[in-house]
Amino acid sequence: MSEREPSGGVVDYREVDDATTQRVNRGDWDRISDDYQREHGDFLRDVGFVWSPEGLDEADAHLLGDVSGRRVLEVGCGAGQCGRWLVASGARAVGIDLSFRQLQHGRRIDAESAVRLPTACGTITALPFASASVDVVCSAFGGFPFVVDIGSAFAEVRRVLRRGGVCVCSLPHPVKWMFPDDPTMSGLTVSRSYFDRRSYVELDEAGQPSYAEPHHTVGDWVAAAMGAGFVLRRLLEPAWPPGHTDVWGGWGPERGRMVPGTLILDLVSS
Ligand SMILES: C[S@@+](CC[C@H](N)C(=O)[O-])C[C@H]1O[C@@H](n2cnc3c(N)ncnc32)[C@H](O)[C@@H]1O
Repeated sequence: MSEREPSGGVVDYREVDDATTQRVNRGDWDRISDDYQREHGDFLRDVGFVWSPEGLDEADAHLLGDVSGRRVLEVGCGAGQCGRWLVASGARAVGIDLSFRQLQHGRRIDAESAVRLPTACGTITALPFASASVDVVCSAFGGFPFVVDIGSAFAEVRRVLRRGGVCVCSLPHPVKWMFPDDPTMSGLTVSRSYFDRRSYVELDEAGQPSYAEPHHTVGDWVAAAMGAGFVLRRLLEPAWPPGHTDVWGGWGPERGRMVPGTLILDLVSS
């Protein structure tokens, strides 16, 4: 998932290109990866496919169908928890992530769990895989939410998919953009325009971007996917399940009862 703890540093909203976004986010994810895995590792599980902070689990949801024997690419795989579940389920899975440190945690968990996910370090906008070499692309809050030109990301994903291949990705729900990162009811006051596409940018002491997170509306996501040649099969907004008490940044049971926290696109390559 991509929610950040408030940095306490200087924050701005501005237009940032993809090259800058990827450069600063690689450094940022390398810096925060140890804390991220320490904090969220139990929730993610070493071999487990959790789609979202609502706890939607692929073992129950079956959004990808039967993956046994399928060539599956997990983009923005982080430490590969989802990809490892795919391997354990019989898929020929591989992961890619921008952050070397996240992938190092993946190697550690491979050894600890005895389930190995092959991975590559790279970006969703330039995948190091042959065209039409993959049956399924999936992502749980990885890669996609960190891209400015999402049309180019979908085009690249479609390139590596065979015709009729499937792409399922979960994303922070775009309505979250309007609210502060506060999981309680007091965080439910609109504080930003849903239509403001400038990126959330954290600045370092020198005033340079150190982290950037773009924003796209639901309509932007659908238009970008369709523009790249995908057909939208389902658009899912998982509800917060009763009894689920885990809080993750701005996601939590109080707010989860009122507004959606996750958007899932289920796409097929035409
Ligand atoms: C919130 S994590 C998602 C990973 C995993 N599902 C999880 O919940 O930990 C986001 C991941 O996206 C990766 N990422 C960010 N920008 C990316 C890009 N342009 N291409 C590929 N991965 C990227 C980050 O390095 C990070 O590991």
